[in-house]
Amino acid sequence: MTNAVSSLLKNPVLVAVVLLTGFGGTFQYGFHIAVLTAPSAYIKKLVNSTCVQRYDLSLEHWQLSLIWSFIVSTYCIGGLLGSLCAGRFTVTYGRKRCLMLNNVVAICGAVLMVLSKTANSFEMVVVGRLVYGINSGSLLVKRNPKIP
Ligand SMILES: *[C@@H]1O[C@H](CO)[C@@H](O)[C@H](O)[C@H]1NC(C)=O
Repeated sequence: MTNAVSSLLKNPVLVAVVLLTGFGGTFQYGFHIAVLTAPSAYIKKLVNSTCVQRYDLSLEHWQLSLIWSFIVSTYCIGGLLGSLCAGRFTVTYGRKRCLMLNNVVAICGAVLMVLSKTANSFEMVVVGRLVYGINSGSLLVKRNPKIP
């Protein structure tokens, strides 16, 4: 064990690769599981203000909770879709190319979320969560050694 650690420390490139694959891979999953707690009040306010502005309809508490639950859970649906697609894509295009293109997917999700307030549309948050789910789901499958 200590022998393995000391030989790992002699190889800084290997340490960098371990850290990069950790942060570039499963970090996204853990981050997006936890990240939505902090801005929940702001997103609920956005949902309410969107409905007031668009439909002249002030939401009640249970309606807001329902939409909020939907926003949170679309991440899991995206994860399901991503993990179902990832195996086929990695076999067809190769792991490295898929990992690189997966970053484009994550950037699309980020852009959707950032612009949602400007566009005054909470649907963009829902779609952004779905896109992030696809990103994270396909990252987790690529860690599976059974996939070539
Ligand atoms: C939604 O917004 C309206 C108008 O600003 C407000 O009266 C209402 O309390 C808000 N609903 C919730 C659940 O916060």
